[in-house]
Amino acid sequence: MDSTEIRQRFLKFFEKRGHAIIPSAPLVPENDPSVLFNTAGMQPLVPYLMGEPHPQGKRLANSQKCVRTQDIDEVGDNTHDTFFEMLGNWSLGDYFKEEAIKWSFELLTSDEGFKLDPKRLYVTVFAGNDDAPKDTESFDIWKKYIPENRIYFLGFNGKKEPNWWEAGVNGPCGPDTEMFYDVTPEGLGDMTKEEYLKADDEQKVVEIWNNVFMEYVKKDGKVVGKLPNKNVDTGSGLERVVMALQGKNNIFDTDLFKPLMDKLTEFSTSNDKDSIRSKRIIADHIRTSVFMISDGVTPSNTDQGYILRRLIRRAVRKMKILNIEPSLLKECSEVVIEKYKTVYKDLSEKKDVIFKILEEEVEKFKKPLDWVSLYKIDIEDAKKGVIKKIKDIPILSSTDTASAEYVYQNFQTYGVPTDLSIEVIIEAGLKFDQDLFDKKFKEHQDMSRAGAEKKFKGGMGDTSEKSLQYHTATHLLHQALRTVLGNHVSQKGSNITPERLRFDFTHGVKMTDEEKKKVEDIVNEQIKKALPVEVVSLTKSDAEKTGALHFFGDKYGDTVTVYYIGENIEQAFSKE
Ligand code: SER
Repeated sequence: MDSTEIRQRFLKFFEKRGHAIIPSAPLVPENDPSVLFNTAGMQPLVPYLMGEPHPQGKRLANSQKCVRTQDIDEVGDNTHDTFFEMLGNWSLGDYFKEEAIKWSFELLTSDEGFKLDPKRLYVTVFAGNDDAPKDTESFDIWKKYIPENRIYFLGFNGKKEPNWWEAGVNGPCGPDTEMFYDVTPEGLGDMTKEEYLKADDEQKVVEIWNNVFMEYVKKDGKVVGKLPNKNVDTGSGLERVVMALQGKNNIFDTDLFKPLMDKLTEFSTSNDKDSIRSKRIIADHIRTSVFMISDGVTPSNTDQGYILRRLIRRAVRKMKILNIEPSLLKECSEVVIEKYKTVYKDLSEKKDVIFKILEEEVEKFKKPLDWVSLYKIDIEDAKKGVIKKIKDIPILSSTDTASAEYVYQNFQTYGVPTDLSIEVIIEAGLKFDQDLFDKKFKEHQDMSRAGAEKKFKGGMGDTSEKSLQYHTATHLLHQALRTVLGNHVSQKGSNITPERLRFDFTHGVKMTDEEKKKVEDIVNEQIKKALPVEVVSLTKSDAEKTGALHFFGDKYGDTVTVYYIGENIEQAFSKE
């Protein structure tokens, strides 16, 4: 079975059992600023798990796009990836443990489902702790399908984290039961709990499904009570299921990755002994980047954009190591689009944007990438005492430690991701003061946040005379844009620094050069008139009668301030 059929079988199975099939939410959460990306199928459904009725009913199923980057260093082993799809079925206060477990077993083993060998299945259940009691109910249900000696109660006493799922310190949570599949060629047979835990560590068994029985709610990390409903949240990592079904011991040999892995082998001329691992990292990072870009992420130095930038750059660096020309990134991303375009239809539509963003990023990275090799030379020189500082920043803070300022400078000025810099430092046999770096980084963030807050206040980042002039110019620009483009133009934001002004507005199409010229001429013409800038206090209704622009809903009181530019309010060029 190929991955497309596996995904399809999962959804059909639950559709037949009364579930509405819902589309994947975008990777970037729409209403949850606490996480950068959806990391589990349940994340976009949190409001419904908390009790809000879902428009499509109480039984739902889907395949949700997810990104997890906390295990990025493990990518390239057999099972870790940064992007994955999570197959899931949900009961929002409808069925509970009995049906959820029964259907999991049926889907995994029946002909209608995945036809997996039940003798290779192992199951874990919640052993109980201060938050909730031991889940004997799930144990008893599982006994109907699997021999008792292959069902293990896990808690900290089992040397592993308890079978418990929560999305963060606040929100819905509950005990879970997890299903593992034996992927060894010979088959492991019956195992004691200790043997099973060892097999798990050695990736001889892989988790293929998790059923969470969400009936509790946490606040600040503590269970504070029960949810209005008893819910089921299940999650099955598609890549791992495909690996189990296709009899592979790693996800990169499945049809989800194979075409891209083959492409990389075709392009590479390196005999590097780590080339398999590098290839897997490149494949993973390109696939994730394609999906991130298709969901609107663009490379930058903050938040989601920074993660994307890091993935692209890391892929490019590994490509260089394998002697793959970075411009081939485009062809590689095309392989990903081909693989997924029937399932995620937007990929084809966004193809050109994806290519363009990747291309631009590779172009931008050319400098810092070359700079990494220079950086190596800097460090070697610094170690030998040939040079000590670059642009007044010391390279080393002591004989065996690279300075935090230096690494920070790389990031700030050249956009070299910190982890790349640290890799180079470690390769050079030096130490690095991560704590000091984190402190520097945080200081910088706090500073820019304070700066941003200041800028939001009336668009004034600076109170110098220049800024005042720019502020006046935004009013002129606002009116000029309306004159040229139409009255739909309205200010969405503005930002002034001592060097320039920025004015945000929406307009359906890109402005033509001719339109820009017209706007510019109008503004300059008004400036040349040296008109007075006046301010009056009026009642709201009087202000409206003057025709002054106002865009802020009901936010103002009965008396408002009107700024106008011109000899009198009636004939003023601009009134706001
Ligand atoms: N939320 C659980 C998980 O991510 C089950 O979907 O594993």
